[in-house]
Amino acid sequence: MNDSYLSAAIEIAQDAGKILIEELSRPLDIRYKGDEVDLVTQADKRSERFIVERLAKYFPDHAVAAEEGTGHESPSASEFRWHVDPLDGTTNYAHGYPCFSVSIALAQRDTLLAAVVFNPFYNELFTAARGEGAAFNGKRIHVSKVAKLSTSLLCTGFPVRNRKASANLQYYGDFTQRSHGVRRDGSAALDLASVAAGRFDGFWEFGLAKWDTAAGVLLVEEAGGKVTDFAGNPYQLGGPVILATNGLIHEEMRTVALEISRRSPANV
Ligand code: IPD
Ligand code: CA
Ligand code: CA
Repeated sequence: MNDSYLSAAIEIAQDAGKILIEELSRPLDIRYKGDEVDLVTQADKRSERFIVERLAKYFPDHAVAAEEGTGHESPSASEFRWHVDPLDGTTNYAHGYPCFSVSIALAQRDTLLAAVVFNPFYNELFTAARGEGAAFNGKRIHVSKVAKLSTSLLCTGFPVRNRKASANLQYYGDFTQRSHGVRRDGSAALDLASVAAGRFDGFWEFGLAKWDTAAGVLLVEEAGGKVTDFAGNPYQLGGPVILATNGLIHEEMRTVALEISRRSPANV
């Protein structure tokens, strides 16, 4: 792995984080992408503009896929693609709840190479490079060693779109009863980073986009965890459901998830 990819991603995520903190002290300009729960702020847009411009400057041949739509295809058909969420956790951000992040990952075709998730409020920097492990503020991290669902702390999230059609409340209820609890923190990138750091033992969510998960998936894998769909197949970016765990509770979580989906077949 070329270390310059990771160091560029770190630099860019930290500078984008400064933009988010700066914007936090200004009056919020909230817009809605659709109904009144799908928010976008000036901060999302400013952060994305900055990240896309900086990536284009450093890696002019690479493609950039970014949530607010300002990315671009590779001018030279290169196989490198950056997945950018300029502000993951916009709803938290808009309410001043300091659980939000910048998420940046580089993939070469289907292989994730480098990942950064940065919470600028708490200065928490999660990084990973393929084959080189994952780190939190420069220190190596590993997934937890909790081996049973009943003593696990879990996390999930709920999509802002199609909330009424979301089946996740059933999974939320069931997993809550079978574990130490299920947190709902509101930033999928940080949720995955927290699995990598051993804060959570497992995370699942339906309907996440590539930019939500790309960095977090590499973090979990490089920290020794496992990421699949509920059928146990390797998770594909943008797939309908993600299950990321410390590996030890993976099969138990999968069994429970399949049980729930059998009970309510419309729900997967
Ligand atoms: C959202 C967050 C949230 C998840 C939603 C995502 P955004 O991303 O990751 O945790 O539950 O599904 O859309 O919109 O804040 O970038
Ligand atoms: Ca997101
Ligand atoms: Ca976002």
